[in-house]
Amino acid sequence: MEAFQYRDNQLYCEDVPVARLAEEYGTPLYVYSGSAIVDTLKTLQEVYAEVDPLVCYSVKANSNLSILRLLKAHGSGFDVVSGGELFRVLRAGGDPARTVFAGVGKSDPEIAQAIEAGVLMFNVESEAELEAIARVASSMGRVAPIALRVNPDVDPKTHRYTSTGQKQSKFGVDIERALRIAEGVKGMPSLTMIGMHMHIGSQITTVEPYAKAVEKGVELIGKLRAMGHPVAWYNMGGGYGIGYRGPEARPIKEFADAILPGIKAAGCRLAIEPGRVIAGNAGVLVSRVLYTKQSGDKRFLIQDAAMNDLIRPALYESFHRIWPVAVPEGFPAPPADYEAEIPGTEPRDVVGPICESGDFLAKDRALPPLDRGDLLATFSAGAYGMVMASNYNTRPRAAEVLVEGGTARLARRRETLDDLVAAEEGL
Ligand code: LLP
Repeated sequence: MEAFQYRDNQLYCEDVPVARLAEEYGTPLYVYSGSAIVDTLKTLQEVYAEVDPLVCYSVKANSNLSILRLLKAHGSGFDVVSGGELFRVLRAGGDPARTVFAGVGKSDPEIAQAIEAGVLMFNVESEAELEAIARVASSMGRVAPIALRVNPDVDPKTHRYTSTGQKQSKFGVDIERALRIAEGVKGMPSLTMIGMHMHIGSQITTVEPYAKAVEKGVELIGKLRAMGHPVAWYNMGGGYGIGYRGPEARPIKEFADAILPGIKAAGCRLAIEPGRVIAGNAGVLVSRVLYTKQSGDKRFLIQDAAMNDLIRPALYESFHRIWPVAVPEGFPAPPADYEAEIPGTEPRDVVGPICESGDFLAKDRALPPLDRGDLLATFSAGAYGMVMASNYNTRPRAAEVLVEGGTARLARRRETLDDLVAAEEGL
């Protein structure tokens, strides 16, 4: 089923009218479709079935406990980048033995926490980190499983802030250095190199960068094994793009077709760390129009969601489709391809209440006429939405609702003003 669809000009999440959720839980409100999340997970599990895949959902995309529980119930593993994310996975009942621990700056306590929990492997980003893991593991009398994160030096052709697999990036090590480091690992009895990791960037819409990366990875795995390392896992990272405007990203199956031959040739198990492709189009941010305003010939729609709720437009100039929750008479539901012109619309800046010019969800966006009280849906907000939210301007963070079929339930209550000062009081 389509996660979000218009029926009789009303936006639905699965079988629940979004307007009803806004009434019940207030705005701004994140609304997620459980079946969209599960369907994508299942598709990923199926398209890679030949190489016994472990889908490690990238918790950073959306770390809500209800979503983690849902994914866990359908066989997902997890990719975490902090002790905090690992804590969430464990709290949600996730299996540490199906969890990988990535990130460029793991602290000693985080390393110890992950060893204690028994994570599947650490994605190691530098020599210095390798030494830290070896030292912590040895002090605990344990052997830590690791995968070296390698930069294949391919251009993922994505936003410069979300490109990670090139030589000048702070992530991973280049292939030549990887071989030198791997030599060193042989003398570290508290480490075992069971995998190789690559993550080349995020919101990658074409399959070629993956194909190129895999080619380099397979060759490297051969060399690592020849050195005696028991490399059994090829972790291909995340980055699979989604449609923000329309169908701009290649389908999941095509990414798999590009990746699978290499993994089969290497004779490895495949791990992947998808975040956005699972959660992104499974969520919308619902907001309510507070004021309309004109300044010169600019028209503004001031609504109650702000950059503290969804920072992607301000931070990356990202495009998110926006459309009324109740479509006014005479206007269509938004077309699947957003580039189409819709007669009767006018360009507006959709802005929030925060005291910054950068506080916008969209600029010069063609929208039907709207008024105070009308509800707006900002689409593709399920990934890197709520997780990047802040309390800037002392704004309580939004509530989150998870819909499954005809049922909706609160997945995070709206923060109260007391929540916002709780860590500062009584000191
Ligand atoms: N694995 C690693 C090592 C990563 O660094 C990331 C994302 C992922 C997996 C998941 O990538 P995905 O499948 O979601 O593309 N805040 C930015 C995205 C930052 C991505 C950071 N790393 C945004 O809003 O576009």
